[in-house]
Amino acid sequence: MLILGIETSCDETAASVVRDGKDVLANTVYSQIKLHEKFGGVVPEVACRRHVEIITYVIDEALERAGITFCHIDRIAVTNRPGLIGALLIGLSAAKAVAYAKGMPLVGINHIEAHAFSAALSHSRLTCPYICLVVSGGHTSLYLVHSFRDFELLGRTLDDAAGEAYDKVSKILGLGYPGGPAIDRLVSDYRGEAVYFPRTLLNENSLDFSFSGLKTAVLYKVRPPKGSRLEKEKIDLNSLSVSSIAAGFQESLVEVLVKKAMLACKIHNISKIALGGGVSANSYLQNSMIREANKHGFEVFYPAGEYCTDNAAMIAGLGFYRDAESGKEILELKAEANI
Ligand code: KG4
Ligand code: ZN
Repeated sequence: MLILGIETSCDETAASVVRDGKDVLANTVYSQIKLHEKFGGVVPEVACRRHVEIITYVIDEALERAGITFCHIDRIAVTNRPGLIGALLIGLSAAKAVAYAKGMPLVGINHIEAHAFSAALSHSRLTCPYICLVVSGGHTSLYLVHSFRDFELLGRTLDDAAGEAYDKVSKILGLGYPGGPAIDRLVSDYRGEAVYFPRTLLNENSLDFSFSGLKTAVLYKVRPPKGSRLEKEKIDLNSLSVSSIAAGFQESLVEVLVKKAMLACKIHNISKIALGGGVSANSYLQNSMIREANKHGFEVFYPAGEYCTDNAAMIAGLGFYRDAESGKEILELKAEANI
């Protein structure tokens, strides 16, 4: 079965063609990073306008790269939740228009579940059940994937997402946007000491996360509130201390992610861990997860680079395992900003 995937939930306009949930024939991603860089983050209105301008070209390019036309497509899969509502509506409207006009079935896909599926595109040995840690700009969640139709949410962040923490800390340290890759690169080349920041584990058996305290701890290290005890320890932001703060931030965040993933495996007696989402491209996270998993006899699977960040291959891939709407029903499919 050939599925056309469409993804526009945030600032990537993406279309992909995937056969039978695993063979990616085309994966076209138009990233808007350059457009949002000067604002230091994604501006929803700007993102929506660019999606409108290019969505049809991105779909055409995916079909061309796959060497097919609409008449070869059996089904369309589109991200319809969660995300920026305006951005979701553009992908969903495009998908509905094509599906209705061409008489094709349409399936709405949960973006976070698609991230939790994405490692399966690169690893045929990743079979259900497995634990998945989804770490992106908007979400940090742990899932127990019973099957590709049944994702159980085990825990999620109570405040900032991991990628959001990377982006905010990068801004505080003057390292630019997006913050994750900037901090990843800086720390990979750094061999010095790391500043210690607290680890927020919540209670002993909790699979939830909280990163806003870590972000504030970094902020206070750099810009302590006037008259506070921290003012005496204020760090002068020369290039060395920027690296030591970035390294300390990353160590704290990654240690929590790895500990909770291990805990989820132990509680649910599962030995396979997958990663997904933009932060899963992080080299320190990947290495730490593998090292810790080896100690416990667990196996780690992470997506190929192009499937870590937002893409439509994961949407088309997961769409293979779901029931699609057809006929007039497809027009009823709704976009949902939150789930
Ligand atoms: O999954 P994604 O493309 O979009 C969302 O669904 O949010 O993730 C984007 C996030 C950004 O916060 C970005 O800073 C982070 O992923 N990111 C990274 C790395 N590459 C992207 N974070 C840490 N290390 C990386 N190498
Ligand atoms: Zn995402």
